[in-house]
Amino acid sequence: METTKVWFVTGASKGLGFELVKKLLSEGFRVAATSRTVESLISVFGEASENFLPLSVNIKDNNDIQSVISTTVKHFGQIDVIVNNAGYGQIGTLEELTDEEARENYAVNVFGTLNVIRNALPYLREQRSGNIFNISSIGGYSANFPGWGIYCSTKFAVAGFTEALAEEVKDFGIHATVVYPGYFRHIHAFLRKNINFLLDFLLCQINRFLIKWKLVFPVFGIVALFLGIA
Ligand SMILES: NC(=O)c1ccc[n+]([C@@H]2O[C@H](COP(=O)([O-])OP(=O)(O)OC[C@H]3O[C@@H](n4cnc5c(N)ncnc54)[C@H](OP(=O)(O)O)[C@@H]3O)[C@@H](O)[C@H]2O)c1
Repeated sequence: METTKVWFVTGASKGLGFELVKKLLSEGFRVAATSRTVESLISVFGEASENFLPLSVNIKDNNDIQSVISTTVKHFGQIDVIVNNAGYGQIGTLEELTDEEARENYAVNVFGTLNVIRNALPYLREQRSGNIFNISSIGGYSANFPGWGIYCSTKFAVAGFTEALAEEVKDFGIHATVVYPGYFRHIHAFLRKNINFLLDFLLCQINRFLIKWKLVFPVFGIVALFLGIA
């Protein structure tokens, strides 16, 4: 595998972005990763080095994006693969979500992605090569999920402009790809966040099993016996 390419991954402090950056670094690629909090990247991937560049960015701010892409090119001398991963799911029916909530979801998922594309393309066009991967969702492919209308519509937008982008840039040797992931959970973050809930749930299920099968007293008896012997 060629490992000279420079990747630029947004939203890399957790989830898919985190796993991707971890894999890329382990394969020897050079990676610029963004987060709203650069400390969260440094704590997991370390300080800036010849292979890694952690960047603090507000994805919604075009000037901010312009600046971190320029910093990436200065640091590595090039930029090759863009992964527009930063995004979040906004739950709520169309009636109940406020104007602010809907706009914020678009600001991150749609306009944040556009900010990255707009500012990366001059470099990719100049070198006449590059790949842009835009992370949509299964909800950007089919939207029959009640309560996910706004989120799905942002991901339909991502899919739509990626298809047009692919046509716009192909003559420059650049490829644009839309990715439609299904549901996944970042297991480490999930466990960290929900460990107490999971333990409670597990104990509850054990209790229910013991009570249902009238095993409470025999089990307590056996445990007491073991404790006594020990
Ligand atoms: N999880 C799923 O089941 C699923 C399914 C289909 C598609 N997707 C899509 O796949 C991508 C990654 O999903 P994930 O579950 O791995 O996400 P995640 O762990 O919740 O977050 C991924 C990154 O997105 C950034 N982000 C989240 N909210 C943001 C906001 N309000 N402003 C700016 N950045 C924000 C975060 O950056 P910071 O480092 O700044 O916090 C975070 O590192 C997203 O685009 C998501 O829509 C997810």
